[in-house]
Amino acid sequence: MDFTEHDAPNQLVHILEERGFAVVAMAAPGPPDAILSSLAAALRLGDPYVPALYRYAETKGYSASYADIRSDTKDHHPGFSTTAGQAWHVDGLLDDIGDIKTTILYCVSAAHRGGDTLLFNSLAAFAELREKDPAAAEALLSPRALNRRSTISAIDLNATGPVFSVDEEGDLITRYTDNETCTWNFAAGPPGGLQRALAFFRSASDNPRYRLAIRLTAGEALIFRNDRLAHGRQSYEDKPNARRHLVRALYANVPTMPN
Ligand SMILES: [Fe+2]
Repeated sequence: MDFTEHDAPNQLVHILEERGFAVVAMAAPGPPDAILSSLAAALRLGDPYVPALYRYAETKGYSASYADIRSDTKDHHPGFSTTAGQAWHVDGLLDDIGDIKTTILYCVSAAHRGGDTLLFNSLAAFAELREKDPAAAEALLSPRALNRRSTISAIDLNATGPVFSVDEEGDLITRYTDNETCTWNFAAGPPGGLQRALAFFRSASDNPRYRLAIRLTAGEALIFRNDRLAHGRQSYEDKPNARRHLVRALYANVPTMPN
């Protein structure tokens, strides 16, 4: 949809509540920070959120409200600055489940080849697992189930918590991640449950019923619920005149309608 369309913010709020993500074409090109800030204002997201991992002296370099995601051989961030693919994760490695509710990726320019953003409806997969194997689903709710450790070499930090949880409103939220930051505690929950849950999720995240690839073009923004979906990225290839450049902003709020 088009951001200049009449009623665009209300439509976006509705789509995000229904599906958990939306792609929107922003109006005129301009500075990415200003575009993100106008989009966040329209959706009443408040100020960008700086993840707990980036509040340390060693990681301060990554603490910008609007983070550039592009290939940079001088930088060593394991996710932001490489052309490699990224496995399923939620943003906010150290943050509590549900703390970072919204992620926006604004595309300044697309890669020469590849670089699709991948979305996995992990909440829908959880609902299916709960029907088929309640003990496995229960293991994912254990507060000891999943540890995530930072892979930024300058600092050693980690956080343990559940993979799924129910928030104050009774809604299911997730931090389902399956990448190099994860250590699974297979002793958590009913015996064998977490092992079966992980096998189920690895297969579900490959199933077109639950996953989607989105290729952003210049001027488009992908907005998604970081507390309801996992995301990842395809590897990509840049050319001098086609270099992938996204700008990311995170928010602790959910998009809501103006009164
Ligand atoms: Fe991410």
